Amino acid sequence: MVNLRLGNAQGPQPGSLAEPFETLVELQQQGLIQHLGVSNATAEQVAQAQSMAPIVCVQNMYNLAYRHDDELIDALARQAIAYVPFFPLGGFSPLQSSALSAVASRLNTTPMSVALAWLLQRSPNILLIPGTSSTAHLHENVTGAGLTLSNEDLAELDKIAR
Ligand SMILES: NC(=O)c1ccc[n+]([C@@H]2O[C@H](COP(=O)([O-])OP(=O)(O)OC[C@H]3O[C@@H](n4cnc5c(N)ncnc54)[C@H](OP(=O)(O)O)[C@@H]3O)[C@@H](O)[C@H]2O)c1
Repeated sequence: MVNLRLGNAQGPQPGSLAEPFETLVELQQQGLIQHLGVSNATAEQVAQAQSMAPIVCVQNMYNLAYRHDDELIDALARQAIAYVPFFPLGGFSPLQSSALSAVASRLNTTPMSVALAWLLQRSPNILLIPGTSSTAHLHENVTGAGLTLSNEDLAELDKIAR
């Protein structure tokens, strides 16, 4: 699967994706790409891509503290399209929050495991790709997949972005 990466380091930028996305659609028609997606895209660009060809994935910045795509995630879930949050742990400076630490200590685990568990519980179409160069962090991050957050935990974590 190939994502068309849009926008810039400041985030998604408005504008038509028709020309570059058409090139990917042609490559798909030639059998060179199986599935298409878009990354760093606005909701309007997601809709424009969908008017040209089916997409299976949107990869945008999203985490406990940055929830610009809440509505988009829900809309994609209704269409069974994957949402892949980049910077799921906050990116270059991992998330820090007293609420996150409090929930982690209550569950006897680490803040990063809770941050990933929250994403997995946020919506069934969320697919995680947290990056790490450390095997200790990898083990910690995998632990997140086995955690179940209670409604009380979720309510506390939901306040972080507000
Ligand atoms: N489409 C796009 O525009 C776009 C943009 C950015 C990123 N991405 C992709 O999105 C994925 C995720 O991005 P990312 O890896 O940069 O963001 P991230 O998962 O939010 O954060 C990675 C950072 O968190 C640290 N980290 C990971 N696990 C940790 C843990 N358990 N405890 C403390 N620190 C931890 C890592 O350092 P250590 O190495 O020390 O663990 C690294 O500095 C990657 O595959 C990346 O290529 C896509």
